[in-house]
Amino acid sequence: ATAPPAPVPERPTLPRMRSAVQECRACDLWAGATQAVFGDGPARAEVVLVGEQPGDREDVEGAPFVGPAGHLLDRALADAGIARERVYLTNAVKHFRYRQRGKRRIHQRPEAFQIAACRPWLDAELAVVRPRVLVCMGAVAAQGLLGSAVRVTRDRGRPLDSPLAEDVSVTVHPSSILRAPDEPARRAAYDAFVADLARVAAVLDG
Ligand code: URA
Repeated sequence: ATAPPAPVPERPTLPRMRSAVQECRACDLWAGATQAVFGDGPARAEVVLVGEQPGDREDVEGAPFVGPAGHLLDRALADAGIARERVYLTNAVKHFRYRQRGKRRIHQRPEAFQIAACRPWLDAELAVVRPRVLVCMGAVAAQGLLGSAVRVTRDRGRPLDSPLAEDVSVTVHPSSILRAPDEPARRAAYDAFVADLARVAAVLDG
């Protein structure tokens, strides 16, 4: 049986979508998740940041980037000089994908078909917010939005050719910084992430 398409409302607004996404059955991930986690931030945000999918905390709390990766992101935005009020945060996939190991839920990267099934939500969010600046964090967001030719390490931190916004770029996912093997590596990865965001801040203020 084919799954029903994502039930994006006919005249989408962020509140209408935030409610409708709870009924989404466009892929199988809804079944294991506590709830769908929609984007968060002002409808008039100048910049949209796209992550991969909600994590364990986000799944429970129902808001994006409220766990460890979110705390790192908050700090990096502040260090880059981007106020949280200017940012709309969302994910390429709205339900948490994980495998159960004992009591722990271990993050699993979403499959291409799950990213594709969820894409109408992201497109509708971008159509409503219409940001000047779009940042894809990590390979799932980057390749989901910009295509499989994009390589985060090669293409990060500079404007890419895309009709999705005036300035479209990719950077690493904040979780990858938390996974760095030691403190010097973590520090270097964090500084490079802040540098990518600082370029975005300069575009916003330019
Ligand atoms: N990682 C993501 O990509 N998104 C979140 O919302 C949290 C962690």
